[in-house]
Amino acid sequence: METMKARTLGRSGIEVSALGFGCWAIGGEWADAEGSPLGWGKVDDEESVAAVRRALDLGVTFFDTADVYGTGHSERVLGRALAGRRDEVVVATKWGNRFDETTRRVTGSDPTPEYAREALTASLRRLGTDHIDLYQLHLSDAAPEAGAQLRDACEEFVREGLIRAYAWSTDDPERAEVFAEGEHCAAVQHACNVLADAPDMLALCERLGLASINRSPLAMGLLTGKYAAGVRPGEGDIRAVPPAWLSWFGEGGAPAPEWAAKVEAVRDVLTSGGRTPGQGALAWLWARSPRTVPIPGFRSVAQAEQNAAALNQGPLSEGELAEIGRILG
Ligand SMILES: NC(=O)c1ccc[n+]([C@@H]2O[C@H](COP(=O)([O-])OP(=O)(O)OC[C@H]3O[C@@H](n4cnc5c(N)ncnc54)[C@H](OP(=O)(O)O)[C@@H]3O)[C@@H](O)[C@H]2O)c1
Repeated sequence: METMKARTLGRSGIEVSALGFGCWAIGGEWADAEGSPLGWGKVDDEESVAAVRRALDLGVTFFDTADVYGTGHSERVLGRALAGRRDEVVVATKWGNRFDETTRRVTGSDPTPEYAREALTASLRRLGTDHIDLYQLHLSDAAPEAGAQLRDACEEFVREGLIRAYAWSTDDPERAEVFAEGEHCAAVQHACNVLADAPDMLALCERLGLASINRSPLAMGLLTGKYAAGVRPGEGDIRAVPPAWLSWFGEGGAPAPEWAAKVEAVRDVLTSGGRTPGQGALAWLWARSPRTVPIPGFRSVAQAEQNAAALNQGPLSEGELAEIGRILG
């Protein structure tokens, strides 16, 4: 049953807290083949471990990572943080990219079932677990035919007890539907936040009984309002040298003016009831659909506490949701 603090991962019956924690940033520094940053700059692993454990104590039971985040580092740190508490949590990770853990660079991608098995074996080892709860295809634009083969490979992994359920991380409803044909497909992971609604994907999740796992629910930090107030991402942070797809930030990590203006325009509604703007952004997602599970990233215990506290206030009201719709058109 969906309650304010818990949601079910689609048809799998797996229950998670309505808030997951995204583990991209805690992977630390890594880069693409040309050396451009794909991480969020330096991280303090001890702080990351403490933040995960604090989140657990505050009722967060869902953690999303990927093998490629920090080229394996995020999975290792998460595995360390969850040691002894694995049974309390639902762990999601992703595969599809090839990488070199020594150079910390991505070396390519591989949409074959053979590589899926190889990647799964490596993720299990790094996470220190014997199964993944939700295994996700990270190649958002892989060909649907390749997706169908990988869906069937995932069904085999379920039969072998290596994973419990699976999803495609994609913004394309047609690709999500290819995966949804599999019995144990439970969700789709896709971009959705106050500034970038995803009505077609949410409708698909409703129609097919999938959970909607929302990546970048804070628009990579922009929706917290702190970047408009002058904070800048540090060295080695992808937001300081944004690739073409990253529109929230400009060169040097200044927020893109058109997006910063929109954040400012909805600030009063998001902060109603004493929420911070970031908490309001999470509350917007819960109000948007009973299937959403936002997975905000975090870098510190303080951020973990503030994000987990959003659960206590629950969704925005219908009126607040409509007001934001009116403001942003
Ligand atoms: N293709 C994919 O499948 C894909 C793509 C993107 C993301 N994801 C997943 O989605 C997760 C979340 O997305 P995201 O990491 O892109 O961005 P996000 O959740 O929109 O933003 C996270 C960032 O906002 C800042 N922040 C978080 N809580 C805060 C607070 N309480 N106060 C102030 N600042 C705060 C932190 O960075 P700073 O403190 O440095 O600002 C944090 O790293 C990822 O971790 C990953 O698990 C998946």
